[in-house]
Amino acid sequence: MLNSIGKGGRLFAEPKPSPDATSFQTNNTSSEYFNSPYYLQHKNQIQPIPKPLIDPPRMNLADVLQDPDIQAIQSANQITLHVVGDTGAVMPTHLTKEETVADAMAADVQAGGPTAPSFFFHLGDIVYYFGEHQYYYDQFYEPYRAYDRPIFAIPGNHDGVTYGDSSTSKAPPTLEAFLRNFCAATPGASPDSGGLMRSTMTQPGVYFTLDAPLVSIIGLYSNVLEGPGIISSQGNKYPVSDEQLLFLTSELQRLKPSRMAGERAVLLAVHHPPLSVDAKHSGSTGLAQDMDTACQQAGLWPDAVFSGHAHLYQRFTRHVANQDIPYVVSGSGGYNAISSPQPIPKAPFTNGDTTLEIDPIIDYGYLKVTIDMTSSPRLLTIAFYQPKVGKNATDSVKVDLDHHQII
Ligand SMILES: [Fe+2]
Repeated sequence: MLNSIGKGGRLFAEPKPSPDATSFQTNNTSSEYFNSPYYLQHKNQIQPIPKPLIDPPRMNLADVLQDPDIQAIQSANQITLHVVGDTGAVMPTHLTKEETVADAMAADVQAGGPTAPSFFFHLGDIVYYFGEHQYYYDQFYEPYRAYDRPIFAIPGNHDGVTYGDSSTSKAPPTLEAFLRNFCAATPGASPDSGGLMRSTMTQPGVYFTLDAPLVSIIGLYSNVLEGPGIISSQGNKYPVSDEQLLFLTSELQRLKPSRMAGERAVLLAVHHPPLSVDAKHSGSTGLAQDMDTACQQAGLWPDAVFSGHAHLYQRFTRHVANQDIPYVVSGSGGYNAISSPQPIPKAPFTNGDTTLEIDPIIDYGYLKVTIDMTSSPRLLTIAFYQPKVGKNATDSVKVDLDHHQII
């Protein structure tokens, strides 16, 4: 599986990865951007959502990996994936942390075996300050140059913001760089990879469903505000269409028979967390309500919800519709491990239908998510790894997929 080639001649890892970088080829100075006339005038403006390339925006892992890789997942009857967000680093000191996380994830792939991740689903904020193409080499292609598997992504707020020299100058269109690196019409060399081999990804949109053996992931785009994240107009409160919310509802309806038959797990991914105890990156209640409405209308609730944006690890359990649903925030991939503290009770504590299960972990790390259909009951395992601590997970949760209960 090393230096593997995917469908359509897709490439993933370098044959001989170079040593970790310690400096950027293109520096970015956040104060320049954050104090710019353009940003100060436009920072509270919702951006349009690029129209998906196909309707509905849906793709299959079998479009990306070779048939033997798909058959291996099917015959093992289990699949593992990586999940984390906010991997973009803006300072050399953070770059080192991003490299540490990326290297540990690449090593998981290289180790092989039935629990080796088949792909990485990125939770957004791939590059910072702002989401323009010149940052993709330093913050994405170079750190993940040894990661020998496909990488899918939803955009974060920083990926959607682009920068103009003055408040009236023309900035690059929102998500232009994301689209050409993750929503290419065909896989091929990226103009932003600095000559590294990873092929562009061919997602059908910035929000989309990835259907894989045993699992479907519905990825949503929560727009460009620092907060709140939004996926709809929320009754004309925000100037954006409601198509994404309709998509979420219809995808949950489509997946319901397969989920009820025990054939697959259904996961949701959205950059802004519906639930968060971080003061600066708090939960987005309108987004959470939209997701609940879609689940209620579809009659299907997800097996887990993943978010980034807050630069730490948080794990909640929501008890709703007779299900235990983990809501996991892992915006810990490299930007900065930081919390904006607010007084909260020691975990576990419960508020309404939600329990914060452990005290937030303020460190760099990533998730491994495994769906194991060979066990009885069938299991979803979500585990958080901190490379600084070691090779064992520092927190994990198991969901009984047959009875929708945490065990
Ligand atoms: Fe973010």
